[in-house]
Amino acid sequence: MTFKPAEWPRKLRSQEWFGGTSKDNIYHRGWMKNQGLPAHLFDGRPVIGIMNTWSELTPCNAHLRDLAERVKYGIYEAGGFPVEVPVFSASESAFRPTAMMFRNLAALAVEEAMRGQPIDGCVLMVGCDKTTPSLLMAAASCDVPSIVVTGGPMLNGRYRGEVTGSGTHIWKFSEAVKAGQMTKEEFLEAEGGMSRSPGSCNTMGTASTMASMAEALGMALSGNAAIPAVDSRRRMMAHMTGQRIVQMVKDDLKPSDIMTKQAFENAIRTNGAIGGSTNAVIHLLAIAGRVGVDLTLDDWDRCGRDVPTIVNLMPSGKYLMEEFFYAGGLPVVIKRLGEAGLLHKDALTVSGQTMWDQVKDVKNWNEDVILPTDRALTASGGVAVLKGNLAPNGAVLKPSAATPSLMVHRGRAVVFESIDDYKAKINDEALDIDETCVMVLKNCGPKGYPGMAEVGNMGLPPKVLKKGITDMVRISDARMSGTAYGTVVLHTSPEAAAGGPLAVVRNGDFIELDVPNRRIHLDIPDEELSARLAAWKPTVKVPDSGYAWLHHAHVQGADTGADLDFLKGCRGNPVGKDSH
Ligand code: FES
Repeated sequence: MTFKPAEWPRKLRSQEWFGGTSKDNIYHRGWMKNQGLPAHLFDGRPVIGIMNTWSELTPCNAHLRDLAERVKYGIYEAGGFPVEVPVFSASESAFRPTAMMFRNLAALAVEEAMRGQPIDGCVLMVGCDKTTPSLLMAAASCDVPSIVVTGGPMLNGRYRGEVTGSGTHIWKFSEAVKAGQMTKEEFLEAEGGMSRSPGSCNTMGTASTMASMAEALGMALSGNAAIPAVDSRRRMMAHMTGQRIVQMVKDDLKPSDIMTKQAFENAIRTNGAIGGSTNAVIHLLAIAGRVGVDLTLDDWDRCGRDVPTIVNLMPSGKYLMEEFFYAGGLPVVIKRLGEAGLLHKDALTVSGQTMWDQVKDVKNWNEDVILPTDRALTASGGVAVLKGNLAPNGAVLKPSAATPSLMVHRGRAVVFESIDDYKAKINDEALDIDETCVMVLKNCGPKGYPGMAEVGNMGLPPKVLKKGITDMVRISDARMSGTAYGTVVLHTSPEAAAGGPLAVVRNGDFIELDVPNRRIHLDIPDEELSARLAAWKPTVKVPDSGYAWLHHAHVQGADTGADLDFLKGCRGNPVGKDSH
């Protein structure tokens, strides 16, 4: 840790708008005063933008306006000037074709909202899956002092006395309905008890994973990730976050000071220990690209490979975020990494302390939730990065959510050319498929879907489910919900719509999966593969206008984070020309 706080007092960027007596200064201050803001708020104190992804169509973040008030308490208390700014909210549960297509649009919009306005520091109010990476990407590109506070997870779901997890039980119940083990009416009854309170998904899905990643990167206060949305300590966390950002501005403690290569390595290892979502791979690669850290898929395999998964949460394990919080939450996990020599202890955090100083004295209150290493869910957790002639740039698989007996498998390919093709065929009893086959889904990557849908864990055919089989090897260029599970190879790169080898797999080809050796192989002669690739023609329709066109034209592969090519890098926060 080499950070040296800046001198205080000094002139902040907001004073370019609010300081002085010029016509322009009067213009900027005068309009603000229509909100009843007294003159002393414009005296050079830190102006803190509360970048709020609140939206009634992002139900996981619908309580963030209330939480923002607590952030304001903390900002005022520390001598700052809070301004709440509504920003683009990419809802996982509502956006079509997929929220992922809008992660980059949100990141672009928020970056410009930070840079173009009188803001000295930001509180990033996030929760639902894409809202966290999009605002972290924005903060990384703009590099104003920033701190994350998440909305927290929902309370545990309940159905007939059983605990149900967000997403995970949707997949389970939907397969049970297909297998004839549950009625549609029972499924509808279960729906009513799944989302019992404000908050984000309560499994270790993408929202909980990204909240954990923000904390492991050092971008949120210690303990933030797991506090339930409705627990009074969530409000305290918001209050303390508001208080802290004011000092961060005074110290000039920026995202680029915190999100170093070491911080990303800490986050990757944390992801392995929590059994986190494969979506974290794409998001961390994208955030690193914005802050100028050279992070690759190989770093994911190198750092995550030998990390045991010790957090016993769905979808890999048994419990939900509520129990994780009661057990001590993420600080316990980070401490365990430190004790195992798997943590850069010196990594700086938003608190101004090192990561180790924050966690070294915490205790584990429930060893069935945060397991001892000798009872780990998976000894070698993390994310396995596979390569081979089917994925020259890489593909990923989550070992803790997969079936051990399928980790080395050779099977006959059953190919679906698109998600519509899959939906049209999967329930057909005449489909030539059994549990030894490998299901292949094409054209669901960043360009193909468009936006890289969470459909990689495609449901099994009913005739296989009826035999009591619950998993098969599945391969695609799609993503998978963090709440999902199975032996699922995802993010195959290059994607089919960009002419990757996945595009030329045919029914009846044989595919070899070898996770221990990190290999994914299409078993056809090299000359045959070359000939098929040479003859390949794009089948995906290219959008002709609007954001969909921009996305299709500029999105990069999943192996580098699926960001737009022109958004990579840190553009800083220069104060632009005044237009008045
Ligand atoms: Fe919003 Fe899961 S759908 S967090």
